[in-house]
Amino acid sequence: MRTFLCTLALLVLGLLLIAAGSEPEEAPAAFDNASNGFADTAAHQVDLGIFDGVEVISDGLGPIYNAQSCRECHQSPQSGGLSQVTELRVGHRDHKGKFVNPSVPIANGTVVIAGRSLINDRAICPNGSFPDQEIQERVPETENIRTLRTSLNLLGDGFVEAVPDATLNEIATRQCRETKGRICGKAISVPVLEAPGKYGIGRFGWKAQHASLLSFSADAYLNEMGITSRLQPDEVTSLCDSVKDPEDKTGDDGLADIDHFARFMRATKAPPRDTKLAETDDAKKGSELFDSVGCARCHVRTMQTVPAGTQINGGAFTVPIALGAKTFHPFGDFLLHDVGTGDGIAIPVEEHYGKLYREMQPKYELTANRMRTPPLWGVRTRSRLMHDGTSLTFTDAILRHRGEASVERLKFIALKDRSKQQLLTFLRSL
Ligand code: HEC
Ligand code: HEC
Repeated sequence: MRTFLCTLALLVLGLLLIAAGSEPEEAPAAFDNASNGFADTAAHQVDLGIFDGVEVISDGLGPIYNAQSCRECHQSPQSGGLSQVTELRVGHRDHKGKFVNPSVPIANGTVVIAGRSLINDRAICPNGSFPDQEIQERVPETENIRTLRTSLNLLGDGFVEAVPDATLNEIATRQCRETKGRICGKAISVPVLEAPGKYGIGRFGWKAQHASLLSFSADAYLNEMGITSRLQPDEVTSLCDSVKDPEDKTGDDGLADIDHFARFMRATKAPPRDTKLAETDDAKKGSELFDSVGCARCHVRTMQTVPAGTQINGGAFTVPIALGAKTFHPFGDFLLHDVGTGDGIAIPVEEHYGKLYREMQPKYELTANRMRTPPLWGVRTRSRLMHDGTSLTFTDAILRHRGEASVERLKFIALKDRSKQQLLTFLRSL
């Protein structure tokens, strides 16, 4: 009887999921700190508290790190948004022209940190327990490829995570066909940390280096804050470290901090439009120009998530009703393009990916001079544009597009002043 009831319940649930999954509806969009339905209100508040939480040495902060809290870099106009904070990435090329991660000597050259392009801007020591230990990373002279990367918005990322890999591949194929090979976004497979051996099309980060928000959470916890977790159990350096790994432990609710971060992001609503501005004639005309100039080829307006009940992230995450079959408007394709701004830094392929290393290395090398098309939703909240934050006006950002976007750049330049202003008004409404 019990089994029968269970089966019945599962069947009903399945039917509900299918029913909910077949009717695409608009993803909720608002800057109101509320959940999109993925987590209940109480759970979302708990997750928000952990996302905002400030970590200290006894929690495992560092030994080297960039900031004490996710919120320090993801905060405007609310937690989960963005900030002006940038990070430092460096590297160099070998004699064959291949990108090589830096070897960064610390502690007077006694220890070398290798295998990542990130340089951490802060360190926990010297401190009372380690008064003579000096471990601050600094860029070695040899690393002549140097770039800054701005923080990104995380709001609405649960919808991005639930876009099928096939959609991203189709967009890449369509662009390439319609422009006769001029614009061909690259979709790169990246490992899903919580599903060992499984891969997904990358979509998060300036290099589209992650497919899963849980994977990104573990990566950020380690590389931004120096906190090890079950998915990233190894410290970048053991110097000055006195907290046992993994530092992020599972709590009474069965969740570790990385699970809370992922649930927080998955439960955020999409960045909303400035509806008042969007309804003006200028913004509407600008919106048409955005399409006719060709911006929307890469800054893709609309995408849809998988039906509820679909397993993604190598089977590690089943998309619930709150995120399934939702239509949303990212104004980005999450693919990698060469628009002449590539920072020269490739996604590192770790040796421990084993035999896949040989297969993936050439593809990863392609990422060196390509950047992910950033979604323009919420771009009105950004003061410093492009990956390095050095373009300070929308016009500057547009004029920096070359390479695959050269034609669109010229079409923008050829617009009458009035039309240019209308296109910029449209961007300000996003
Ligand atoms: C010191 C600043 C800083 C801190 C702290 C920080 N981030 Fe980030 N975050 C960034 C930057 C910079 C990027 C873009 C990185 C890149 O692609 O190179 C980013 C990107 C991301 C992305 C990708 C978003 C997208 O849509 O592409 C996610 C997800 C993310 N961070 C989550 C987190 C979480 C969770 C935490 C806390 C554990 C955190 N971050 C802490 C600076 C920070
Ligand atoms: C070939 C694809 C492509 C086309 C076409 C394209 N873009 Fe972009 N866009 C990108 C990429 C890639 C970046 C990120 C470049 C970087 O950060 O170095 C970008 C960045 C931007 C940014 C900065 C966003 C931010 O968050 O910093 C704006 C604004 C922008 N594009 C607007 C436009 C407009 C307007 C057009 C049409 C005139 C256009 N783009 C055409 C790919 C494209």
